[in-house]
Amino acid sequence: MRGNGFEPKIVAFLCRWCAGAGADLAGTSRLSYPPNAVPIRVNCSGRVEPAWVVEAFRSGADGVLIGGCHPGDCHYVVGNYKTRRRIYLLQKVLAEVGVEPERVRLEWVSATEGARFARVMREFVEELRALGPLAMNQEEKALPPQGGVHA
Ligand code: FES
Repeated sequence: MRGNGFEPKIVAFLCRWCAGAGADLAGTSRLSYPPNAVPIRVNCSGRVEPAWVVEAFRSGADGVLIGGCHPGDCHYVVGNYKTRRRIYLLQKVLAEVGVEPERVRLEWVSATEGARFARVMREFVEELRALGPLAMNQEEKALPPQGGVHA
């Protein structure tokens, strides 16, 4: 814990061919980065449904990272191009409901870029610390448990 004690929770959807392998390399290279993320491997960043990002937020995440192959390197050719368009639109929709678009971060990381993965994680955690907890989650915590109020 640092400063005000807020440590952001992150869900990281990582494509297995590039960003996931980059994360592994960061680990085997013993590069240090904050342990705030729960990694979820996907075959391609293009497999990440916007609904999964929303569900991650609803489940308590303060930020969601989507990591994929660099443009032109996707093993499914155009998966990451679809991701880029999809995440752009998702950020617009989230902004409409009061979720800062910066809470969703899309990054291209190759299997040889362990240092880049570690840097992205450090930057994202710092950015989320500055943003603070996701307001939506704070409001839900303030609600009584379902069925918990009886007259
Ligand atoms: Fe990595 Fe498509 S396989 S983004």
